[in-house]
Amino acid sequence: MPKILVLNGPNLNLLGTREPAVYGDATLADVETACREAALRHGAEIDFRQSNHEGELIGWLHEAGRSAAATLGVVFNAGAYTHTSIALHDAIKAIAVPVIEVHLSNPHARESFRRRSYVALAAKGTIAG
Ligand code: DQA
Repeated sequence: MPKILVLNGPNLNLLGTREPAVYGDATLADVETACREAALRHGAEIDFRQSNHEGELIGWLHEAGRSAAATLGVVFNAGAYTHTSIALHDAIKAIAVPVIEVHLSNPHARESFRRRSYVALAAKGTIAG
C-alpha cells in the first residue's frame, strides 16, 4: 500500500489542552485516527510521527527522500519551525517526495511573525485553517 508520511512538529503533542480556542479540542491521537481513516478510504497507509526537535524532523524528511518510490508524499505541520527554520526548508528542497504544508489554525490571521513560512517556500502546497 502506498504510504503517506504525516509529520508533526513542536508542541503538537499537546493538542487537546494547548490553546483550545486556537487549535480545538482534538488530541494528536484524534488527528492520527482521522488521518488513518481518510488514507484507508483512498487506499493508502499513514506513517504518523511527532517531534519537538528540528533535527529529528530533518532526519525523517531525509528518510522519506530515501524511500521516495514507496512514499506518496509528506503532510507536514512544522509548528513554529515553519516560521524560523531554513534547515527544514532546505531538507524539503533536498528530497524528491512532494511535501504539503498544513496548519490547524490560519497563521495569516494571527500574529505578524507567523506570516513568514520557510516551509511554504519549499512545499508543493499549503492547507491552513
Ligand atoms: C501551527 C501554527 C504555528 O504558527 C504554531 O507555531 C503551531 C501550530 C498550526 O497548526 O496552526 O505550533 O503550525
